[in-house]
Amino acid sequence: MSRQILLLLLFSAAVQAFIRPIYYGGGDGHDCEESTPSPTSEVTPSATSEVTPRTSYSCPNGWNLTTRTPSPFNDNSGFLCTKFISSENAISVNAGSSLCTEQGAALTAFENEEERQKILEEARKYIITDLKMATGSIAIAGDRLKQCVTLNGTVLAENMKNPPCNDRKQEYTLPASAHTNAEFLWNNWALNEPSHNMWTYDSEDCLQMVIMPSNLDRNGKINDIYCRLDHAPNSPSDMSFMNFGAYCGKPVDIEATI
Ligand SMILES: *[C@@H]1O[C@H](CO)[C@@H](O)[C@H](O)[C@H]1NC(C)=O
Ligand SMILES: *[C@@H]1O[C@H](CO)[C@@H](O)[C@H](O)[C@H]1NC(C)=O
Repeated sequence: MSRQILLLLLFSAAVQAFIRPIYYGGGDGHDCEESTPSPTSEVTPSATSEVTPRTSYSCPNGWNLTTRTPSPFNDNSGFLCTKFISSENAISVNAGSSLCTEQGAALTAFENEEERQKILEEARKYIITDLKMATGSIAIAGDRLKQCVTLNGTVLAENMKNPPCNDRKQEYTLPASAHTNAEFLWNNWALNEPSHNMWTYDSEDCLQMVIMPSNLDRNGKINDIYCRLDHAPNSPSDMSFMNFGAYCGKPVDIEATI
């Protein structure tokens, strides 16, 4: 009897010693975050040093390892792989979403000021400098709450009397696929947005980031926009709210090294 217990104890100690480093490596990213900020961070413990469990985060080629606050939105990794996918032609938000899914990602949105500045600068460079447009936009994640979506003006007027549909911090949600804490986003509406415009067959139920260096009330801010239209319905030449790309994101690749 006592021998059996001893054997059991020894066995369980051996198993623990064996699986412990792996458990640590997979379960605790906080210890190692500061030492793994680079997209190519591979940690190979040298033969002489003690075996220290490390976690490394990386993104596929062409994707930026973007720093975020560790949260359930990013599996507590503190990172998301992001990419601005450009489009020479004006596209709808839905088409922008497809650009992301074609690359195994989904529309995302900026989560903090540093990230906002980075994506704004990259989009500005592409749309204003390269495409030589005066203004443009990029598709980002965001869905108007189902109960706030309508093509009926009477219903809209009714909706606009009460939260959540008339509240800029409540009327939109981010899908789980955006992997983004939306708190910061809802503080970044362009002046007088969301405007809840509707057209006979489409209403503004998606989101874009506006690129408009001439108007700082709108530049780098978010705007509610049609999901399916890629040009102004009453003026095909009106390029003022067109998307010339999309902001895409996908979870980081996590590698535990012991
Ligand atoms: C991605 O990284 C490149 C290269 O460092 C940089 O030029 C670009 O601005 C970054 N884009 C975003 C959205 O962070
Ligand atoms: C709009 O909604 C109102 C109120 O529900 C309804 O009476 C009206 O018939 C609707 N209009 C259209 C065109 O569907």
